[in-house]
Parts: sequence; C-alpha cells; structure tokens
Amino acid sequence: MKNRGLNLKALDGSCTVVVGCQWGDEGKGKIVDVLASDVDIIARYQGGANAGHTVHVGDHHVVLHQVPSGVLHADKRCLLGNGVVVDLAQFFGELDGLVRRGVDHNGRIGLSTRAHVVFPYHMALDLAAEAAADRKIGTTGRGIGPAYEAKTGRRGVRVADLLERARGEERIAQGIEWARGQLGRLGADPDLAGTVAEAMTVAARVPEVATDVGDEIARALAADKRVLLEGAQGTALDVDHGTYPFVTSSNTTAGAAAVGAGIGPTMIDSVIGVVKAYTTRVGNGPLPTAFDEAMDERIRELGAEFGATTGRPRRCGWFDAAVVAYAARVNGLTGIAVTKLDVLDTLPEIRIATGYRLRDRGDLPFPAASWELARVEPVYETLPGWQSPTTEVRSLRGLPRNARAYLHRIEELVDTPIAMVSVGTRRSQIIREP
Ligand code: GDP
Ligand code: IMO
Ligand code: MG
Repeated sequence: MKNRGLNLKALDGSCTVVVGCQWGDEGKGKIVDVLASDVDIIARYQGGANAGHTVHVGDHHVVLHQVPSGVLHADKRCLLGNGVVVDLAQFFGELDGLVRRGVDHNGRIGLSTRAHVVFPYHMALDLAAEAAADRKIGTTGRGIGPAYEAKTGRRGVRVADLLERARGEERIAQGIEWARGQLGRLGADPDLAGTVAEAMTVAARVPEVATDVGDEIARALAADKRVLLEGAQGTALDVDHGTYPFVTSSNTTAGAAAVGAGIGPTMIDSVIGVVKAYTTRVGNGPLPTAFDEAMDERIRELGAEFGATTGRPRRCGWFDAAVVAYAARVNGLTGIAVTKLDVLDTLPEIRIATGYRLRDRGDLPFPAASWELARVEPVYETLPGWQSPTTEVRSLRGLPRNARAYLHRIEELVDTPIAMVSVGTRRSQIIREP
C-alpha cells in the first residue's frame, strides 16, 4: 500500500456486496452508511434481527437490526431480500422508532414477498433448544435458526402468504402445531395462544412494504442505477464456511448475496470485505487469537465491544490474517474496508496472527473443523504501535507511519487491496483519500 495507496477501483461497478470477514460486528453498518451516499438502493440479503448494525451520523446513533444501513440517507430505497428472515413486529417497531427519531422513510422501504417470517414460536424454539443443549451455540435468541429450519423444511410462512388472510392464518397455525411438538420434547411450554391473531394484526401492514426485491434491483441496474447488497454476520459465522456448528443458520458470504437479493451472480461487480483491525466474537466457539484477560478488558473498553443486539460482552483478540485471507477467498473480495483502526491507537506493540500451527501437523490453513480450530496455535508477528490518535486523520498519508505499515501488512497477508479505513464511529471518520 506504500506505493499503491487506497484501491478505489475495488468499488467499481453498479452492484457491490458488503460482507463481514470475521465473526460479525466488523462495522458493516458504518461502511454501508458511508458507501450508501453513492448508490440508489441498499438491500439486505440474509439474516434477520440477530444482526445489529450501528450507524452514527450527527445526533443519530442508531442500531439497525433489519432495516438496511442506508436508511439515514433521505433519498435511498432500502430493501429486505428473499434471503432474509423477518420478524415483522420487530421490523415495523424499528421503522416506527426511526420515525420517532425524525427519520422519514415513507415509500423507501421494501420487503420481499418471498422472505420468510419469524414468529414468536421460532423464538421460543431457539431459546428452548439453547436451554436444553449440552453444547450451546450462544445464539442471539431471535428465532433465526428455527426460522431457517422451517424454510428449508418447507414448513415456513412467507411474506406472500400473509397477503391473503385465510392462507396466512392457516400457515401460522400449522407452524405453531409443529413447534408445540418440538417444544414439548425440549420440555418447554410457552404461551402461544394469541400468536395467530397478533401476527395477523402486524401482517396488516405488510402490503405497504411488500415488493419483488429481485425485480426492483434488476430494473434499477438496467437503468444504470447503483445497488449495495448489505451482508449480516460474518464469514466465520456462515453456515457452510464458518466455524460449524458455532455459526448462524444462513450463508452470510458474498455468494449468498445474489440468491438472497433475487438477482443473478453476473450482476454483481465488486465485493468489499469489512475487516476489524483486530478480532472479536460474541457467542460460543473457538477464537484462536483471543487476548489474555487484561488485554481483553482493555480493548473491550476502548472499542466498546458489547453486542449491538444482545449487549453481551464480545471476546476480543489480535488480528487473525488466516481468517481474513480465507474470507478473501470464499467471498472473492475485490477490496477490504478496515475498521476501528483508532481502537489500537494507544498500544505500544500490535500482534498479527499470520497463520496457524498444530503441534503434530505443522502449518495449517483455516480448518473445516471447529474442534481443530480450538487446538491451533496462532503464529504471531509483532509490529510496533503508532501511539498517536488517528480519529481526525482523513487521508492515508496523514496516518502515522506505523499505522500505514500495519495496514500494509494486513493487505499483504490477505492479498487484497484496502479500499477504505475507518477511524471512528461517525460517518465522517473515514479515510477514502490516498
Ligand atoms: P456491524 O454489525 O458489522 O454493523 O457492527 P456493529 O455495529 O455491531 O459493531 C461495530 C461497532 O463499532 C459499532 O459500535 C460502531 O459504532 C463501531 N465502529 C464502527 N467503525 C468504527 C471505527 O472505525 N472506530 C471505532 N472506534 N468504532 C467504530
Ligand atoms: P452482525 O450482523 C456477531 C452469532 C451469535 C451466535 C451465532 C448464532 O451484527 O454482525 P443466531 O442468533 O444467528 O442463531 O446466533 O451467531 N451472531 C452474531 N455475532 N454479529 C452478528 O450480526 C451476529 N449474528 C449472530 O452470537 O454465536
Ligand atoms: Mg453487529
């Protein structure tokens, strides 16, 4: 990067995917909000209210769970694609909350008629399964796993089903009946009596947002408009590519963006990976570069590392280039956006894990098995810190030399050009200039 500067070409084209490259909470909301000023449509393609995407603009410090992170831009269309699972009560509550905060989204929100709906019985199943499990995943408790299970089990209720009252009621009632059997086996007996009536009351608002998201995006691209596809969670939480079974229940990676937005893969031009300048993880599962206790607390404090959805403390660790290089491959990244560089401003030394080693097997790529990842030893190299504030820096050359060297090393190890660097929570705290 010393010679090349920022690679702005990484953002070329009309349709860009923004994807998390670690275990979620990389700062996707912040990056999407920044990039949203250059596009016409922002669409979520998977996940649901398990996501918590923080956007900080002026007096607004908003955590978005289901509404795309472009919503604070007054003129952008924000869509939820077919790959999303939507909790309608939470979703409309989120929209109403935005109005109360002065964010006018009238006519700007669209929800795919093919998206699956999360009901209270999915949440009850999520909580009951966790309570009963010997090996707990540490889910967000938002019903995400059971809703995707219902989808692939062909028992799900889609937004389109709710547009016809009788069909909606019948599908939900069937879902409840199935859930009751499961809940009984898990030793749970939640009160689901009012579920159908409550769900249909909320569903009355669906026609105001229901749309064919894929069709909208395809038309927009044909009219030379620009589209951002916003991922939730991160590559290491992907149900195929992540640290299974300690993952979420959807494909979070860029390949899922086409499927979950309802367009063809040839319509996507670029993929930006969001990468925290260190590593965090919330929920259970291995974290090879985890800090020792003192450092863990220090970075959690400096980086405000508490879950945006659940408030749980995030475990923190050194930058893990093995995970991010793996993410670069499975997502086909064209560029990366490094966030939270400022959190490292005070450290005298910073470590990077360049790979993994196993005592009996030598060097190892990012393994398929979680139990193996739990046993690896990271191979570290140590770089000098920069020990000066970066929060007001707005160009790459304005960064301290050691900060540039740190970014350069990340770029080298991940073998992907850096397109932007974030140095604070606010929209303005971004480096996009060489
Ligand atoms: P997401 O789920 O990927 O959108 O990330 P979250 O919003 O859950 O977590 C990222 C947190 O880091 C939020 O509190 C952001 O406000 C904050 N954040 C994002 N970028 C930066 C940055 O460059 N510096 C600092 N200090 N905080 C940031
Ligand atoms: P954003 O979009 C971080 C984690 C949970 C748990 C696992 C499964 O804000 O980056 P789930 O409720 O999805 O069944 O939980 O995935 N998880 C996240 N961790 N950021 C997220 O979203 C997450 N969404 C789910 O903590 O370990
Ligand atoms: Mg988050």
